[in-house]
Amino acid sequence: MMCSCCERKVMIWSLCFIFCLSNSILVFASPDKHLCRPDQRDALWEFKREFYVKGFHSNGVAADKKTKRWTNNTDCCSWDGISCDPKTGNIVELDLLSSSLNGPLRSNSSLFRLQHLQSLDLGYNNLSGILPDSIGNLKYLRVLNLGGCHFHGKIPSSLGNLSYLTGLDLSINDFNGELPDSMDNLNQLTELRLGSTKLSGNFPSMLLNLSELTLIDLASNQFEGMLPSNMSRLSKLESFSVAGNSFYGSFPSSLFMIPSLFYLSLGSNDFSGTLEIGNISSPSTLGFLSLVENNFNGPIPRSISKLVGLFYLDLALWNTERSIVDFSIFLQLKSLTFLDLSYINTRSMVDLSLFSHFDSLGYLDLSGINLKISSSLHLLPHIGILTLSSCNIVEFPKFLKTKTSLSYLDISANQIEGQVPEWLWRLPMLRYANISQNFFSGFEGSADIIQRSQIVLIDISSNRFQDPLPLLPNSTKFFLGSSNGFSGKIPRTICELRFLDTLILSNNNFNGSIPRCFEKFNTKLSVLHLRNNSLSGIFPEESISDHLRSLDVGSNQLSGELPKSLINCTRLEFLNVDDNKIKDTFPFWLRLLPNLEVLVLRSNEFHGPISSPGVSLSFPKLRIFDISDNRFIGVLPLDYFAGWGAMSSVLDTVDRMPSRFEGRDSGNYRNSVSMTAKGLKMELVGSGFTIYKTIDVSGNRFEGDIPVSISFLKELIVLNMSNNAFTGRIPPSLANLSNLQSLDLSQNGLSGEIPPELGKLTFLAWMNFSYNNLEGPIPQGTQIQSQNISSFAENLGLCGAPLQKTCGGKEEEATEQEEDEEKEEKDQVLSWIAAAIGYVPGVFCGLIIGHIFSSYKHDWFMRIFHYLT
Ligand SMILES: *[C@@H]1O[C@H](CO)[C@@H](O)[C@H](O)[C@H]1NC(C)=O
Ligand SMILES: *[C@@H]1O[C@H](CO)[C@@H](O)[C@H](O)[C@H]1NC(C)=O
Ligand SMILES: *[C@@H]1O[C@H](CO)[C@@H](O)[C@H](O)[C@H]1NC(C)=O
Ligand SMILES: *[C@@H]1O[C@H](CO)[C@@H](O)[C@H](O)[C@H]1NC(C)=O
Ligand SMILES: *[C@@H]1O[C@H](CO)[C@@H](O)[C@H](O)[C@H]1NC(C)=O
Ligand SMILES: *[C@@H]1O[C@H](CO)[C@@H](O)[C@H](O)[C@H]1NC(C)=O
Ligand SMILES: *[C@@H]1O[C@H](CO)[C@@H](O)[C@H](O)[C@H]1NC(C)=O
Ligand SMILES: *[C@@H]1O[C@H](CO)[C@@H](O)[C@H](O)[C@H]1NC(C)=O
Ligand SMILES: *[C@@H]1O[C@H](CO)[C@@H](O)[C@H](O)[C@H]1NC(C)=O
Ligand SMILES: *[C@@H]1O[C@H](CO)[C@@H](O)[C@H](O)[C@H]1NC(C)=O
Ligand SMILES: *[C@@H]1O[C@H](CO)[C@@H](O)[C@H](O)[C@H]1NC(C)=O
Repeated sequence: MMCSCCERKVMIWSLCFIFCLSNSILVFASPDKHLCRPDQRDALWEFKREFYVKGFHSNGVAADKKTKRWTNNTDCCSWDGISCDPKTGNIVELDLLSSSLNGPLRSNSSLFRLQHLQSLDLGYNNLSGILPDSIGNLKYLRVLNLGGCHFHGKIPSSLGNLSYLTGLDLSINDFNGELPDSMDNLNQLTELRLGSTKLSGNFPSMLLNLSELTLIDLASNQFEGMLPSNMSRLSKLESFSVAGNSFYGSFPSSLFMIPSLFYLSLGSNDFSGTLEIGNISSPSTLGFLSLVENNFNGPIPRSISKLVGLFYLDLALWNTERSIVDFSIFLQLKSLTFLDLSYINTRSMVDLSLFSHFDSLGYLDLSGINLKISSSLHLLPHIGILTLSSCNIVEFPKFLKTKTSLSYLDISANQIEGQVPEWLWRLPMLRYANISQNFFSGFEGSADIIQRSQIVLIDISSNRFQDPLPLLPNSTKFFLGSSNGFSGKIPRTICELRFLDTLILSNNNFNGSIPRCFEKFNTKLSVLHLRNNSLSGIFPEESISDHLRSLDVGSNQLSGELPKSLINCTRLEFLNVDDNKIKDTFPFWLRLLPNLEVLVLRSNEFHGPISSPGVSLSFPKLRIFDISDNRFIGVLPLDYFAGWGAMSSVLDTVDRMPSRFEGRDSGNYRNSVSMTAKGLKMELVGSGFTIYKTIDVSGNRFEGDIPVSISFLKELIVLNMSNNAFTGRIPPSLANLSNLQSLDLSQNGLSGEIPPELGKLTFLAWMNFSYNNLEGPIPQGTQIQSQNISSFAENLGLCGAPLQKTCGGKEEEATEQEEDEEKEEKDQVLSWIAAAIGYVPGVFCGLIIGHIFSSYKHDWFMRIFHYLT
């Protein structure tokens, strides 16, 4: 991808150069000599008008760039982006790359009248709709570029009629389905670019017949299955990329046998087994090899040392199964500039001096490998990005002192003690420093030492820092300092950091008030986490910047009202103020925040009703709503939950998962929320956090019926309405909440029967109906029957299993059968408990765990900490 991007840049640059040149020549060309054929000029003129954006420019000039300079009374062969055959006057080339063409390409488009086109480039325009079959009429095409448009639907099989085609670029579109079989006619094709196009199906084996191919790019699609074993028929192949698909099985070693192969990118698939590189001819031309994020296991093949041309090697997450890795196999690869061996699961200890042979390394990631670092200063002279996370390092690596090109340093999750050396901040290129999860206790040197650097991101969280916060330079965008022992007031100097985007100071001992300055200075502040400190005073309006996406000030002693200035934070997604002393009525105005996903007001002094006549609360994206333990009152209208879209339908949160390299230059923070589910308190982080959908209104004084609209929220996983004054019956429609895993209706005044329909909820692992006025038989159904007796305690007249009390005569007839069922259920409870002891959340949320496994390769973790309340 990187390569094609650069290529594209070079291409754009050279095209621009050529056109600037040809334009300047044309100034001197004779205006009399009209080459252009009138019918083709008219076709061009019409084509331009097909994409005219009506109302965009009142004077009738199209909104695009190149076509803007087309004029009627000049030779169309001289127009921007047009080339003609000098003999016949036919237009043979149309290049409107990135020309703001906007709209569908219709099958009757005048484009298809330019029958003699040999090269057509409409890349990077907004050409929506389906790619019409008529494209097959341009039968002399050699080069076709439609990349970076918005085409969708199937790739038309008429493409197979373009038998002169040598270059085809359809990448970055929304095509779907498989490649048409007709493409096996394109036997002159040399470059096929289909990256990021949403294509699916097996590897298109007809490509093996296109023996002229030098480049195949199928990256970032939805292809699956195994690759054909004999790929050496593609004997001219130079570049092969299938990264980011779901290919599995062993990787065909025949590819390594292709002598011209230079670029091989297989990352983020499910290839498995050991890798056979085979008996390659030496010297190998392979320069780029990425195998990251697959299921390769076993030893790293020794023959990798024959790939002496490699400059880029990514083996991250290869599973060597805790075996010993002989790192000397890499010593032959002297041209490497990029080497990623992170998390290869070895128990070997490596002496970093082994890497002193790699003079050109600019990128090195050895995370997860036990490292021994000798103090040689001659290591890695040109290193720019160095990641040594979780390497069991105990001392700050001194050899870095002379690394004047180092811009990114991650030595997080080691056991380094003492002070952060002063010289670190003097490294002239250093912009990113992650020293989190160590035992650092202070900063060496004067107080302003960091301030003199040009650092952009500092992560010092989870250390033992105690001093007041260090002074930071104006360049700081991301400061992560949570879980240390910082104390005193949050210094006002932090307000002067005009580019600050993320400030995380949770879990420290800060006291005093929240600085009243973010509104004024840090207008770009988007993440402010001050959770779990000893901040007091009112929650100031002036602490809110309009750009906030995530605000967490929970577990402090803040008082006063919720700042109204939040109303201007239209990007706000996450708002957590739990466990403070905020005294306010329900913030109805929050409904104006279209992106709000999480609202936690738990354990404060909020009061009054949460509904208001004439105000319809609709939270289209809200997933977590926790207003428990406040003093809210009133009856909830029947339609209260009607507009809560995110909880009533599946939203694709998977798309938002960060890829492996995201976060390298951003404040990689995690929102987290603690909640009570299944009688347990747990903390949700990562993907657990993004898929949980919960409503907790417990511990208030709500009365009246449970609003039936709750049953619209089909995606709800946890519902807690306990400890209120709800009356009436339990709505049978609760059975619509088919994803529900935890239901707590205890300590209310509910009456009538437990609706038998609830027995159908198969995921409902935990429920509590105790302390109500319920009566009648407890419904059948494995989940209900396996509850602890205490879940039904203190009611008027519940009867039947699992209670001892029988429901009159009927019970006895069925005893025998039920005894069997009961035994089965008991077994189930037992195994449930056994599993719970091993891995409590696992049992609870089989679904969620499945999700995590499937999304592990996106580097997305969920950790659930739990303890019994
Ligand atoms: C240019 O010529 C075409 C076809 O002859 C005509 O439809 C169009 O109106 C002309 N445009 C201008 C700006 O003269
Ligand atoms: C692209 O085209 C689509 C459909 O024609 C339109 O909805 C969208 O606004 C366009 N995008 C841009 C950036 O012009
Ligand atoms: C092309 O077809 C569309 C409908 O598909 C029609 O609206 C348009 O007028 C046609 N254009 C020409 C030039 O025939
Ligand atoms: C290719 O062209 C031939 C004749 O020009 C036509 O009959 C055929 O349908 C075309 N094939 C495709 C796949 O469009
Ligand atoms: C490849 O070409 C051969 C001979 O032309 C043909 O028999 C075979 O079906 C083709 N394979 C594919 C996958 O198109
Ligand atoms: C693979 O294809 C090549 C070239 O077509 C052929 O020489 C070779 O025998 C094939 N190998 C296997 C194992 O089919
Ligand atoms: C590998 O190739 C070399 C020469 O190209 C040959 O001498 C050797 O026997 C081959 N090894 C194997 C295992 O095929
Ligand atoms: C940082 O910005 C502030 C306010 O704009 C300015 O007063 C200060 O001099 C700057 N500091 C440095 C080190 O540039
Ligand atoms: C804040 O903490 C500092 C040191 O921890 C202490 O000296 C000071 O009295 C505290 N201030 C308040 C208002 O509690
Ligand atoms: C929201 O922003 C506008 C314009 O900046 C401002 O006038 C208004 O007072 C702000 N509202 C609140 C509640 O702060
Ligand atoms: C710093 O490293 C830790 C541990 O490896 C990681 O969890 C955290 O996301 C990193 N910080 C940033 C800002 O990337």
